[in-house]
Amino acid sequence: MAEKLKMLKFPDPRLRTVAKKVEKFDKSLEKLTKDMLHTMYEDNGIGLAATQVNRHIRVIVMDLSEERNEPRIFINPEYKILNKESLASFEEGCLSVPGFSEEIIRPDKIELKWQDLSGELHQDTPDGLLTICIQHEIDHCDGRLFIDYLSKLKKSMIIKKLSKQNSKSNRIVV
Ligand code: NI
Repeated sequence: MAEKLKMLKFPDPRLRTVAKKVEKFDKSLEKLTKDMLHTMYEDNGIGLAATQVNRHIRVIVMDLSEERNEPRIFINPEYKILNKESLASFEEGCLSVPGFSEEIIRPDKIELKWQDLSGELHQDTPDGLLTICIQHEIDHCDGRLFIDYLSKLKKSMIIKKLSKQNSKSNRIVV
């Protein structure tokens, strides 16, 4: 049975960790991806990076289908921007920054390389949502969050609101 994993929430400093490359393609990697997919589905996300569940290796899971029945796994994903002028704007949210979404502009023509659970290499030039989602998730692997692209003012507003939320849920009366 898959386990639900605990999500790190901004401003947890562990979200800033740069994840290491996966070297071992073993049963524990497979188990992690199962648990990550389970966690992502439970929390209604479309993508999740291992960094967000406090595992600092370059592993991403995703499901962009409406029926939520097309799980995808990307191990050690890397991308190259093919055209710097071709941009797309999406309203992005993040399971580690609950309750916030903002319009982010990213390049939408990329070449993507990754490995699967058996270590086999794959390459693609995706389009649409996958292009944007994979950049958001690879940012997690590099310790970056989508709110890093926002202005300082907007970011500090988010920090204030979230730390209020956090202190509320942690507050005890003694
Ligand atoms: Ni995210």
